[in-house]
Amino acid sequence: MFKGLRNKWKVNAIQLTLILLTFAIGGSLTGYAGRKLMNIFGIEQKWIWIIVYLLVIVILWPIAVLIVSILTGQFPFFLQYIRKIGRRMRLIRSTEPEVDSRESIVNSDKKLTSESWDSGPTTNDYRLTTNIAIFASGAGSNAQKIIEYFRNSNKIKVALIACNNPVAGVLAIAARENIPVLIIEKERLFRGDGYVEELKEKKIDFIVLAGFLWKLPSRLIKAYPGRIINIHPALLPNYGGKGMYGNNVHHAVLAAGEKESGITIHYVDEYYDSGDIIFQAKCVVLPADTAETLAQRIHALEHEHYPRVIGEVVTKLKSVDSFIG
Ligand code: GAR
Repeated sequence: MFKGLRNKWKVNAIQLTLILLTFAIGGSLTGYAGRKLMNIFGIEQKWIWIIVYLLVIVILWPIAVLIVSILTGQFPFFLQYIRKIGRRMRLIRSTEPEVDSRESIVNSDKKLTSESWDSGPTTNDYRLTTNIAIFASGAGSNAQKIIEYFRNSNKIKVALIACNNPVAGVLAIAARENIPVLIIEKERLFRGDGYVEELKEKKIDFIVLAGFLWKLPSRLIKAYPGRIINIHPALLPNYGGKGMYGNNVHHAVLAAGEKESGITIHYVDEYYDSGDIIFQAKCVVLPADTAETLAQRIHALEHEHYPRVIGEVVTKLKSVDSFIG
């Protein structure tokens, strides 16, 4: 139970102890104050007592826990906690932007910059920062764009680059950007613990695949339900599946004489390129195209859309999978 709470609130064991202590002391103080009020006003009827007590809980309890939280050093946590309750009870207006439904994200032309959803109070990183791990195997141009997009964000942080290829270009990007690296080994990924514990220890909340060429084990997918997304350089469900990556995809598209191709951003499940589609964008395929020229056009689309869509999906997740509930 405590582990579940720690994961939900993203706090360590000491912070959790202090938070529970704050709840306990704040609750006792509220009860004490309620009884005192009853005595002062000489209220004896049970039904009035219940009304007063409810008022005490709504008004005094938040004040009591906030004061106690200053003493226990947990003020930022409780401020957010009480705001969240206030928003749920519609006593406080939401500072989070309204987020599109999944359907409206698909093929949406809406432009959302990191700044637009970054506005609002950001006083601590108990909950406001979503840590992203980018899994990549290659050059890492998408990783670079994602890092740039969220560089000044205080809501989303690229906290880890996970890579299965020790000579991949993305590792140079990680070094330059000062982002920790996790080298993924096949044996451990597929037959070991799937890196789940390590990712949880590093407080990774969300996984973004950007040219990661291995299928993820079900253990990892189950540990991050609805929290792993991938980008594919074609219009799925066409040109997906095993072996369909990078230029292989573009060769297949050209060989089939397609007039258009594009990108697909989708949730990751246990099969290749088969999870629910979040977003697609199209581009033309020109008669003179080679796999390389088509790849350039596809990369441009990926760079334009992937960081923004990541921001939208994470924001939507946060509004659904609330901090306290
Ligand atoms: C991207 O085009 C991405 O769509 C593709 O690998 C490329 C990585 O480029 N992914 C797949 O093919 C997955 N099936 P990058 O390393 O420059 O970001």
